[in-house]
Amino acid sequence: EEPHTSEIEQPTTSIDERVKQPFVIGVAGGAASGKTTVCDLIIDQLHDQRVVLVNQDSFYHNLTPEELTKVHECNFDHPDAFDTEQLLCVMEKLKHGQAVDIPKYDFKSYKNDAFPLRRVNPSDVIILEGILIFHDPRVRDLMSMKIFVDTDADVRLARRIRRDTVEKNRDIATVLDQYSKFVKPAFDDFILPTKKYADIIIPRGGDNHVAIDLIVQHIRTKLGQNDLCKIYPNLYVIQSTFQI
Ligand code: ADP
Ligand code: C5P
Repeated sequence: EEPHTSEIEQPTTSIDERVKQPFVIGVAGGAASGKTTVCDLIIDQLHDQRVVLVNQDSFYHNLTPEELTKVHECNFDHPDAFDTEQLLCVMEKLKHGQAVDIPKYDFKSYKNDAFPLRRVNPSDVIILEGILIFHDPRVRDLMSMKIFVDTDADVRLARRIRRDTVEKNRDIATVLDQYSKFVKPAFDDFILPTKKYADIIIPRGGDNHVAIDLIVQHIRTKLGQNDLCKIYPNLYVIQSTFQI
């Protein structure tokens, strides 16, 4: 005899958990593509909502004393440069409504403990931004919406030269050397292959106001559905049937 199977699919989480979980957005793309700019524009438009930004930079491993003596040989664009276990732990806590303390990375001293920790409170929207946030499937699985900022390599390099010489006090030869040795190969090998996971690809980054307006509209729609669910918990049935 066939084993009895229920025809009605059971939700894997309770209704309470489903309605309370924040909307997690991932914003990936090459270095200096405009990820932070896009996030800031989204956050500006969502000023009436509780939104927090988490940067993958905060999870750079600290260098060993030996590595600190030869930073020019370190690859900061490889997935192993990040402490992904710590990132996962922080995201899990935020997703379940707990406050977390996140390090702020210092690009000048290459340390993640140079500044005081930043307290991040649970929010309705969590934006996770970084070059390699689509690389690990466990991090990807946390996201309800994935955005890839697609900016030409020459524009990214030009912005990087300006940013690293002005803000990080690096000389132009060092920036170009790091770019050809690590940044460009890692973009081709690890970052660009994750573009296929994106739900939305934004050409021209922060200049693309139409894309940003559409994204904000979508987030508002999702948050509105969440509010309805808080009032009418049974709506989750209708929601899951008609989800796009
Ligand atoms: P990412 O977070 O991807 O590294 P940012 O948003 O920080 O990129 O942008 C990198 C640099 O380029 C910054 O110095 C920023 O001011 C500049 N920038 C970003 N978007 C634009 C734009 N549309 N036009 C001009 N400069 C920009
Ligand atoms: O903010 P953005 O996404 O541009 O940050 C990622 C970039 O920061 C990487 O391309 C990496 O090479 C660079 N980086 C660096 N020095 C560090 C850590 C990261 O130049 N100490």
